[in-house]
Amino acid sequence: MLKTLAASLLWISAVATAFAAAPNLPTPNLGKTVGPADIARWDIDIGRDGKWLPPGEGTAAQGAPIFVAKCSACHGDGGRGTEQAHKGLPAPPVLVSDIKRKGIDASTTSIPNYWPYAPPLFGYIRAAMPWNEPRSLSDYEVYALTAYILAENKLIDAKLVLNAKTLPKVMMPNRNGFLIRFPEITPH
Ligand code: HEC
Repeated sequence: MLKTLAASLLWISAVATAFAAAPNLPTPNLGKTVGPADIARWDIDIGRDGKWLPPGEGTAAQGAPIFVAKCSACHGDGGRGTEQAHKGLPAPPVLVSDIKRKGIDASTTSIPNYWPYAPPLFGYIRAAMPWNEPRSLSDYEVYALTAYILAENKLIDAKLVLNAKTLPKVMMPNRNGFLIRFPEITPH
């Protein structure tokens, strides 16, 4: 056992030395060089303060027909949930709720009480929705859908034009209701 271990260690160090000594050794030729354009396609996160929001804009009125076409099959009419969701069965979440809630528990999470910042809503829809076809929406459609969901939840004026300037100014009602788990590493 010890002998085998010693032999393997010798083998590993021999290989390591060989690689170190011959940096131009032929590679298996897998993959391809990744350039800035490839990275840009995946570099799509949005800061909670709206950093990295792209150009574009949209209103709730523009979002409504897109929601009917691409979202309501899973999230229900106007985002108010499907029958299955109302029975408490596993289902895509309710996006718009008319119930006024105080506080949070696992069964009552909703966009108004569980999203402390509005810009990540744009980021989430752009990256993940529609569930069956993520990354298929244009930035204009995502602004319009974000405006629609926020307006239906009565969090913005229904006429507001949502863009990189106006979205970060939306104050989510429960912004200050969260405990910061690691204040020493969380920027204010
Ligand atoms: C095929 C079904 C399906 C379609 C279509 C769909 N969604 Fe979803 N959506 C889901 C599921 C499932 C989740 C929960 C995903 C999870 O928690 O991992 C979700 C989650 C969400 C959330 C997060 C809700 C929360 O409170 O965390 C938002 C916002 C959302 N969807 C918006 C949209 C929008 C806008 C569209 C239309 C462009 C859309 N969805 C289309 C299935 C769908």
